[in-house]
Order: sequence, then C-alpha cells, then structure tokens
Amino acid sequence: MFRVYVTYPFPEGWLSLLEGKVILEVQSKKQFLSSGELGERLKDKDAAIVLLSNKIDKEVLNKAPELKVISNYAVGYDNIDIKEAKKRGIIVTNTPDILTNATAELTVALIFTLIRRIIESNEFLQDGKFTGWEPDLLLGFELKNSLVGILGAGRIGSAVARKLHSLGAEIVYYERLRKKDLEEEIGARKKELKWILENANIISIHLPLTKETHHLIDEEEISLMKKDAFLINTGRGPIINEAALADALREGELRGAAIDVFEHEPGINPHLLRLKNVVATPHIGSATYKARKGMAEIACKNLLAALQGKEPPYRVA
Ligand code: DGY
Repeated sequence: MFRVYVTYPFPEGWLSLLEGKVILEVQSKKQFLSSGELGERLKDKDAAIVLLSNKIDKEVLNKAPELKVISNYAVGYDNIDIKEAKKRGIIVTNTPDILTNATAELTVALIFTLIRRIIESNEFLQDGKFTGWEPDLLLGFELKNSLVGILGAGRIGSAVARKLHSLGAEIVYYERLRKKDLEEEIGARKKELKWILENANIISIHLPLTKETHHLIDEEEISLMKKDAFLINTGRGPIINEAALADALREGELRGAAIDVFEHEPGINPHLLRLKNVVATPHIGSATYKARKGMAEIACKNLLAALQGKEPPYRVA
C-alpha cells in the first residue's frame, strides 16, 4: 500500500475516501510545518495532500525522494514549485470548480459590504452614535449601472461577472484570451488593463499568482484608478503591492478596498486594518461547508487516481 501524508487534521470523515486504500499519516495539530519539518514527514511518503499554506519548495522535495503525487487542497498552486516537481516527475493536482460559487459569492458580499459601508454602520451602532435618521448618514454607492472590471476571467472571475451582471453592473474584463461565452451571455467587453484601471468603478482580482501577476497592481496602476473607485481582491495577495494600496487608501487616492487575501499571509499591513474604507477577511473565499468538504473529496480522488496510474480529475503538472 502507498504511504500518504496529510498536512492538516481535517474534520471527521472528510478524508474517508482514503480509508483502507492507503497507509495514512495525518498531521495531528492545527499548525503549519516549516520546510524542514515537512520534508522530514514526507521523506518516506508516496503522496501528500497539502494546503496552500504549505510551501512545497526544492528543500522539501529534496527530502522526499519517494514522492509521486502532490494533491493540493486549493485551486491556486503558487505554493508549489511546479518546475521542481516536474523535474522529478511528480504529479501535481488541484481542486477547482467546487469552490467557484463560494468564492464568487464572497466577492459579491465583500463588494456590497464595502460600497454600502456595512461594517462602518455596524460599528456606528455599537458605539452608540445613532441618534436618529438623517438624510446624509453613512451614504454609499450602488452596484447597479456601475462599471466593474474583472481581472482574470477564469472560472471564479466569470462567475463573479455573471452574478454582478445579474445585479445590474456593466462588465469589462482583462484576460489573455477572449471569453466569447461571457461576451455573448452578459455583454462583457475585453479591455486592456490600463483602460480598466482608468475607467472602472469597481475592480475585482481573480488572476492566479505568477511571476507576471506579482505586483500587477502597484503604485503606478493604483494612481491610474479613479479616486472614487473600489478595489477587491479574493484571488492572491501578492498581486497587489499591499503597502502601496495602504498608502493610496490613507491618502484618499482610492475610495476603498475589500481584501480576503494578503501579500504576506498571515501577516497584514497594519495600516490597512486601521482604515475605515477597508473591509478585510482572513482568506475565507471558499470557506463554506460544501466547498471545503468537496475540496477534500476532490483532493482524495486526485491523489488516488494518480497513485493508481490513472489520469487524476484535476491535474496541473
Ligand atoms: C484556493 O483554493 O486557491 C483558495 O485560495 C482557497 O480555497
């Protein structure tokens, strides 16, 4: 039987597909192992289910000569050195689709929370500041008829675009290839990044993190955005230069931001958290019971198929 390591103590039953089929060792504590420790655990394993918070780099792979499969419990796989995995003939898989709706719903929720100032309003009440209805109390913006720029019109970006269109927003998108289905279905228009930055009222990031997208939104890009625009990120933190974003928000160069992912997770630029025009959540895009349990099932199916020499449902390398 193949030996498998799982880097997190998943809830009861989530890994049941593996039971009796492999020799399973599961990390007992909810803590993230260092590269050295992880390499140590993987040294005699054939396969592993890992989290996006586990960095699978050369150091780890060097210590794991038996490793044949890395089943990533996430759709993004920027935590894995794919080049090094490929060199060693290791199969890498991910868990898309099942989390698309959950992540798209969170994005929509963040947009409304931000533009209708829901957190500020809640704090206002908690602080006992509500003395009566006023015409200009806590005014916000409407999504209907606003121009939304979707950066990355893959599965999640497209789902967000469809949901926002159904709520009355006009959609433009930035993507390498044309998305004819999105254009025909909801009238989305493909545009250059600069055009979107200069024209959109709301910009939502759904790109994968790569060398090309790292700091795609930096000081210069932020300066091109409208002063009353909103920036949303439920993709990957390092796509935005977080310090530049914090400065721009503090200086009123941008109306607000909603961010679920951070440049140096779990660390967050301390200025961001203090700003009233920021809504921040701790990387919970896919955090629904349905999506997270489903991701575990897919991670198990990917792993078993690859170990059995079959094509896994979702292979990325
Ligand atoms: C992913 O899967 O990449 C998300 O960031 C977490 O679900």
